[in-house]
Amino acid sequence: MFDEVVTILENRKVNAEYYKLIFSSKPLSQNVLPGQFLNIQIDGHENLLLRRPFSYYRVQGNRIEILYEILGRGTQVLAEKRKGHTLKALGPLGKPFTQKLKGKKRVLVAGGVGVPPLVFLAEQVQDKTKPLLLIGCKSKKEVLPKAELRKARAEVRYATNDGSYGKKGFVTALLEELIEREDPKSLFIQTCGPNAMMEAVMKMADEFGMEGEASIDERMACGVGACLGCVVETKDGFKTSCVEGPVFSFSELV
Ligand SMILES: Cc1cc2nc3c(=O)[nH]c(=O)nc-3n(C[C@H](O)[C@H](O)[C@H](O)COP(=O)(O)OP(=O)(O)OC[C@H]3O[C@@H](n4cnc5c(N)ncnc54)[C@H](O)[C@@H]3O)c2cc1C
Ligand code: FES
Repeated sequence: MFDEVVTILENRKVNAEYYKLIFSSKPLSQNVLPGQFLNIQIDGHENLLLRRPFSYYRVQGNRIEILYEILGRGTQVLAEKRKGHTLKALGPLGKPFTQKLKGKKRVLVAGGVGVPPLVFLAEQVQDKTKPLLLIGCKSKKEVLPKAELRKARAEVRYATNDGSYGKKGFVTALLEELIEREDPKSLFIQTCGPNAMMEAVMKMADEFGMEGEASIDERMACGVGACLGCVVETKDGFKTSCVEGPVFSFSELV
């Protein structure tokens, strides 16, 4: 784990929902796996001293990409940063998604801030059967430009709430379609996104006997297991989502 001052190479709007931040760092780009994250101090201002966690979206050599949404003050200030500005970033942090699956078809279920780590995973996996990447968003305006998904080794399907792109409805409607065609027990779900979405996915997994894992979206402060601000309840007691997660298996979570 390294704590580095990094210089922004690029920071731009990608579509109505996402911005892309690019910087370069040798230490922060070594041995990174999808699902891991960086804890970034956006600014030295008093109300922004607490770092914000962001998943690795793409790593190519020393070049690191982050895909983010504006949710509050920190991400608003981040979006105003320009080339040449600096940030402090701590990483790589956390437990990654399982990369090698034994004989199961991988199904990635993503929404909102959960899209970046699952696109990264879809780019890295070497599965025999092509994985499925199911993405849910509000409307066509939030659909990622095709170039962002070019390297994903997955079949990508979208669901939009208003039906302006892909299937109309929530992303779980795509999962429902899938389990009508395929044996749910042959699927392995990996999900990241809004808590309500992940809860719905896990409920379906429970009902149909699907294994899987979820990257839990807990508010974080230290990112290194010291403040206990990010604990989640598991069947083995409380665990820190920054060190023992953010990826947990469905069977572990309460
Ligand atoms: C492991 C992990 C990986 C993440 N990866 C990404 C990523 O790749 N891209 C991305 O855009 N975001 C990601 N996030 C979410 C990101 O950390 C928050 O959007 C960010 O901290 C918000 O900071 P802010 O100062 O803009 O908002 P704040 O002012 O802190 O909060 C504004 C609003 O957003 C809500 N909020 C804040 N943090 C979160 C959160 N973690 N989850 C849900 N709601 C939140 C608050 O409740 C509040 O309503 C990740 C979070 C975690 C835990
Ligand atoms: S963020 Fe401090 S313990 Fe996880």
